[in-house]
Amino acid sequence: MLTIGIETSCDETSCAVLEGQNRIRSNIVSSSLLRHVPYGGIVPEIASRHCLEQIDFVFSQALKQARVKAKDCALVAVTEGPGLIGSLLVGVCFAKALSYGLGVPLVAVNHLDAHLESAFISNEGKFKGVLSSRKPARYVGLLVSGGHTLLTYHVKNKVKKLGETVDDAAGEAYDKVAKILGLGYPGGPVIDRLSREGNPRAIAFTKPKQSQRFGFSFSGIKTAVLYYVEKQKKRGISPSAFKTMQKDIAASFQHAVVQWLVEKTLDAAEVQRVKDIVVGGGVSANSLLRERLAAEGLLRGITTHFPHLSLTNDNAVMIARRGVDLYKRKQWADWTLAADPNLKMV
Ligand code: KG4
Ligand code: ZN
Repeated sequence: MLTIGIETSCDETSCAVLEGQNRIRSNIVSSSLLRHVPYGGIVPEIASRHCLEQIDFVFSQALKQARVKAKDCALVAVTEGPGLIGSLLVGVCFAKALSYGLGVPLVAVNHLDAHLESAFISNEGKFKGVLSSRKPARYVGLLVSGGHTLLTYHVKNKVKKLGETVDDAAGEAYDKVAKILGLGYPGGPVIDRLSREGNPRAIAFTKPKQSQRFGFSFSGIKTAVLYYVEKQKKRGISPSAFKTMQKDIAASFQHAVVQWLVEKTLDAAEVQRVKDIVVGGGVSANSLLRERLAAEGLLRGITTHFPHLSLTNDNAVMIARRGVDLYKRKQWADWTLAADPNLKMV
């Protein structure tokens, strides 16, 4: 069975063709990222206009790359939310029209569920190291993206929320710290890269006090970075010393954030007595998080599953994959489907 996936929750416009559950026939992603760079963050109006301009093109490219015709496809899966309302509406309207025109079922996918599903897409074994044959019956999920940081417990098809961030999301903290350091947008990839050249012990960031055992907080560290940079600028730091400082801050920030994520996730896995952890969302691309969570989990007999690097960012393959699951459970959408910018996972 061929499924068309459509993802337009934020700044990416993506369309994919998935064969069965695990064969990627195509995955076209058009990003409006460069258009947002001058503003240091996503401008919703620019993002939604980009989706509108691109949706037809990414759809026809996805069919072309997959070497299929629209009429060969048996299912349409679309992101219902959460995300930016203008962007979401483009995908939802397009998908409804497509499903109506083709006479095939429509399924509405939660973007966050889809991120966690990415860790099980091995593309028929072509993505080395990604689990495909055995999805664990019970696991702890760590969703780390630009808008969310959430720890969940999954058993069969039920999900329970264990904790979430009380302020900024992990990806948002990366983006804000990069802005303070003058490193542009998005912050995650550039801070991850610079970290490798800096000293992770240069600055000791204080761990936030948390009332919730599985809760997170990232706004304190962002403010600490801001004060630190302002203090150095007041002292009249030289351009070359500023470059070294950028690297040290990047490394110390990344070290602290990853340590908090790893500690809480392993604690949750131990409390829930699970042997598997599943990570998803843009921050799951982070090199230190991948390294540390896998290594420290292994010491406790826990396996950590990460998506293939090509699927950590927003993409329509994960939407199609989750859509197939929902279709099999007969959770189809109807013509009343509307975009839900605040859709929750649990
Ligand atoms: O999941 P995603 O593509 O969009 C949302 O659904 O929010 O996540 C985007 C976020 C951005 O905040 C970006 O800075 C972050 O993921 N990100 C990273 C890395 N690559 C992307 N954060 C840390 N390290 C990375 N390597
Ligand atoms: Zn996302």
